[in-house]
Amino acid sequence: MEPTFRILPVLENKKLGPYNKITMKDVQIYAHAECGNFVMIGLQGFDPYLSRPFSFLEGNRTSFSILLKVKGRGTELLSKVKKGDKLKVLGPLGKIFCPPKEGILIAGGIGIAPVYYQSRWMKGGVLFYGAKRKKDLILTREFKDKGFTVRTITEEDGGLVTDLLKEYTDELDGKQIFVCGTKGMIKSIKGILNKEQIEKAYVYVEERMGCGLGGCKSCAVKTFEGYKLVCTEGPIFPLKEVKFD
Ligand SMILES: Cc1cc2nc3c(=O)[nH]c(=O)nc-3n(C[C@H](O)[C@H](O)[C@H](O)COP(=O)(O)OP(=O)(O)OC[C@H]3O[C@@H](n4cnc5c(N)ncnc54)[C@H](O)[C@@H]3O)c2cc1C
Ligand code: FES
Repeated sequence: MEPTFRILPVLENKKLGPYNKITMKDVQIYAHAECGNFVMIGLQGFDPYLSRPFSFLEGNRTSFSILLKVKGRGTELLSKVKKGDKLKVLGPLGKIFCPPKEGILIAGGIGIAPVYYQSRWMKGGVLFYGAKRKKDLILTREFKDKGFTVRTITEEDGGLVTDLLKEYTDELDGKQIFVCGTKGMIKSIKGILNKEQIEKAYVYVEERMGCGLGGCKSCAVKTFEGYKLVCTEGPIFPLKEVKFD
């Protein structure tokens, strides 16, 4: 579907672990959203002027939610919205992707949001999930209820998600793999997957976005086939295609 621009009222803004789960009333955008899609969300007014990109988290016929981590000024202001406030929403955006019924999801921190949204189309698999602290691990019960084996690790306990992958590397063989996390995490993962695993791996790429529609070129990412736009050719790319330098 062509993306549409809507002014949507906030139904709820509540804490989920260290994040904000913000739910908006919507009967149009989420109804047409597919795996890989995301939305641009902005406050009414001009501060900040540009909207910010967010994955869908979940939704239904009358509303959808995002999970927000405060990073800078835009997300700080968005984290403070209250019930009844109105948000500028553009979507669904991005290139859609057909996920496997079963596969491997690897998330670091807020990277849990897009993979949770992806799990909507899946029947199970394994989730490898790393966070800073135990109390930052969220949605693990929901993943288990969806049929996933959930393997978690925290920096608090002295481990990284890459340690988990090394331990359970056999579980990755022959499966499609989806990674969402920081560039550092993705680079480390690329370093430990074998050639066959990399062939079947995909990554959620995050770049700053100005428009979400392919017009401003601010989201260009270096690939082995030249620059590509995350907003129209991503955000999901084959891991082997992206240059992380
Ligand atoms: C397709 C996509 C989906 C996303 N989904 C989510 C989500 O579900 N939940 C969520 O909390 N965040 C998500 N993000 C990241 C979110 O858009 C940024 O954190 C946000 O735009 C930062 O805005 P800000 O005004 O708070 O920070 P700014 O003041 O603009 O920047 C603060 C710092 O964050 C860095 N930064 C800004 N944008 C990005 C980015 N896109 N990637 C990496 N670093 C960045 C800046 O370089 C700066 O160091 C997503 C990004 C993309 C591209
Ligand atoms: S965000 Fe403007 S081209 Fe991608």
